[in-house]
This record gives sequence, structure tokens and C-alpha cells, in this order.
Amino acid sequence: MKILITGGAGFIGSAVVRHIIQNTNNEVLNVDKLTYAGNLESLKEVDQNERYQFSQTDICDRIALDELFKDFQPDAVMHLAAESHVDRSISGPADFIETNIIGTYQLLEASRYYWNTLAGEKKSAFRFHHISTDEVYGDLEGTEDLFLETTPYAPSSPYSASKASSDHLVCAWHRTYGLPIVLTNCSNNYGPYHFPEKLIPLVILNALAGKSLPVYGNGAQIRDWLYVEDHARALYKVMTEAKVGETYNIGGHNEQKNIDVVKSICELLEELAPNKPEGIAQYQDLITYVTDRPGHDLRYAIDATKIKQDLNWVPEETFKTGLRKTVQWYLDHQDWVRNVQSGEYQNWVIQQYANA
Ligand code: NAD
Ligand code: TYD
Repeated sequence: MKILITGGAGFIGSAVVRHIIQNTNNEVLNVDKLTYAGNLESLKEVDQNERYQFSQTDICDRIALDELFKDFQPDAVMHLAAESHVDRSISGPADFIETNIIGTYQLLEASRYYWNTLAGEKKSAFRFHHISTDEVYGDLEGTEDLFLETTPYAPSSPYSASKASSDHLVCAWHRTYGLPIVLTNCSNNYGPYHFPEKLIPLVILNALAGKSLPVYGNGAQIRDWLYVEDHARALYKVMTEAKVGETYNIGGHNEQKNIDVVKSICELLEELAPNKPEGIAQYQDLITYVTDRPGHDLRYAIDATKIKQDLNWVPEETFKTGLRKTVQWYLDHQDWVRNVQSGEYQNWVIQQYANA
């Protein structure tokens, strides 16, 4: 297969590209604008492979997309390119509207135009796989309910509202134009190559630097964490095995309170990085409760029964094994960390945590 992957230089996209190049014989064209979140360094393991190509392209650029489709002639599109950080969507929603909604629209139109030029088996086998988030469902109250594929959409943040919009466009392009789509909604990912604006890498790197570990509000919010390589495997399965028009929730069955995640990282660091920065007795002493995120979702939790039953997918990592691997990866990849903590990253940290 020839697979056009958008956002392949990001956290999850790069895991998907690595998974496909290393475990299948498929070809990949990685289409990525390389925003602050895109790092070609995350693809070093595969970028010399002859089945891998890269194009620095904005998905909002329809003319460029048409050229890429014409030249590459993909059998499938996996659409991961997005603005993905909730806090950034609160301080500046415009890029989220542009990339997540307009960009998805342009990609859908380029795909539809290309798909209409196909015939026979190449046309019927074509897939447009839209990668989305469980945040489109809003949040859950209490500790019992789970998100199902049928849960009504109720997004809270500009990020989740823009992803919900893109999901609706994708479903409409299927129903109205017959574009053969599949759609997945996943819980919070963690693992190697995660940009350090997100909770888990931020806490690991701040702790190692002896900086405060900012916990929003009381830290009692719950997320359902999935190791990124488990997600990449699930996405490939859905793209290659799911029936057209199907939607799957993907989750790790690993619900954790934010404060417990932060404490678990501190405990792992005590063991794996015992030489602490000067003046720090225990990593946990760095925990600092800061002003809560506006509109903060309380709890996300996925019911992943459908993907287990239909496609026989279950996560391989528990939170315990995955978090240990993740902390060790950051300890072993200080070069990658230094490269992504560029000027732009420093500006974000100053703006976001000014009063922490
Ligand atoms: P990320 O922010 O790490 O990477 C996004 C990538 O998209 C970057 O490489 C960036 O350069 C690229 N990009 C952004 N705007 C672009 C544009 N206009 N044109 C082309 N490329 C552009 O994101 P991620 O965490 O890897 O998430 C990937 C996808 O998975 C997103 O669609 C996100 O909504 C979804 N998702 C993420 C999570 C999570 O926990 N991170 C969970 C569920 C779903
Ligand atoms: P994040 O990694 O931004 O993912 P999302 O908002 O998409 O779930 O945040 C995970 C949780 O951690 C979320 O409840 C917000 C919280 N959080 C903090 O408490 N402190 C921080 O500095 C960050 C970045 C997040």
C-alpha cells in the first residue's frame, strides 16, 4: 500500500510512520507543515528507508495537496495533522480553526477529487482515516460512565470543538459523497517523542531541571492514558481492517488522576535519576498547585470494547510499564529534548506559567 500520512512529524504521527516502515512493506508519504510541534528528528530511525518520503506542506494548501495526490497516488490517507494542545487553543484559537477545520476540509476535498479519478479495486479499497480524540465527547461526571462510539458530542475547549467539527465534516463527506472513511477517537497518549508542553514530558523534564511541577487546580482530574505505540498499532489495524464508515474508540483502560501521574513520575525518577539537582531533597517537593485551566474537563474514560471485539486489538502496555519506558526514554534522549526546547518552546513556557 501507499499511505499518505499527515502530521507524521508529530508525536503520534511519527509513531505511526515508524510502525508502518518498520513492521510492514508499505510506502509512506509524510505530509507535514513542521509547526513548532513537528520534528523530523523523531523520524531518524526510518528516514533513510526507500519506502519513506517527506513533503513539507500545509494541509490548508489545496493546490499543493492536489499535486501530492497526483504524484503519489495513495491507497489510503491517515490524517493526523492538527493543532493539538488544549492550553494553546485557549490562548490562541485561530490556528486550531485553520488547521483542524479548514485544513481537514481541504484534505477531504483533495481526497474526494483524487478518489473520483480512481476506478475498480483501487477506488473501492481507498480509505480516508481521520484520527481524532475522545475530547469531542466532553467530560464525564463521577467514576462509572465510559465514552462509547455512540456518546453524543459535547466538546468543551476550542481544541476539542475544532476536532469535533472535523469529525462531522469527515462523516458528512462519507454520507453525502460516499468517500470511504474510517474514524477513531482516542484517549490521552504518552510515550517517546512527546512534545514537552504536555503533562507527562513536561513533568519529567521540569523535575530533572529542578523546576516546579505545575498541577492545575487540585489535580483530581482524570485521564485515560494509552502508550503511543499501542495507539499506532490500533490505527494501522483500523485503517487496514475496519469496514468503511466505522468509528472506533481507542483507550488504555488506565484511568489516573493528574496528581497521581505526577507522583508516579517523581517516584520513577527517584529510582532512575537519583542524582537530583542541587537543593532538591525529593522530586515530589517540586509539585506546585497552580491556577486551573478554564473549562477544564474533569474525567475522560474510554470503553474500547468495540475495537477489541471487531479487530482483536488490546493495549500491550500497562500504565506502569509504559510510564517506566517513557521516563527512561527521556533520560536516554537528552539530545532530542535539547533540540525541541527551542526559542519558541521557551516563549510558550514563559507565557503559560508566568504566575505559577
Ligand atoms: P502533535 O501536536 O504532536 O503533532 C501535530 C503534527 O501536525 C505536527 O508534526 C505539526 O507540524 C503538524 N501540523 C500542524 N498543523 C499542520 C498543517 N496545517 N499542515 C500540515 N501539518 C501540520 O499532535 P499529536 O499529539 O501527535 O496528535 C496527532 C493527532 O492525534 C491529532 O489529530 C490529535 O488531535 C489526535 N489525538 C492526539 C491525542 C494525544 O494524546 N496527543 C489523543 C487523541 C487524538
Ligand atoms: P495535557 O497533557 O495538556 O492533555 P489534555 O489536556 O489533552 O488532557 O494535560 C493532561 C492533564 O494534565 C489535563 O487534565 C491538564 C493537566 N495539566 C496540568 O495539571 N499541568 C500542566 O502543566 C499541564 C500541561 C497539564
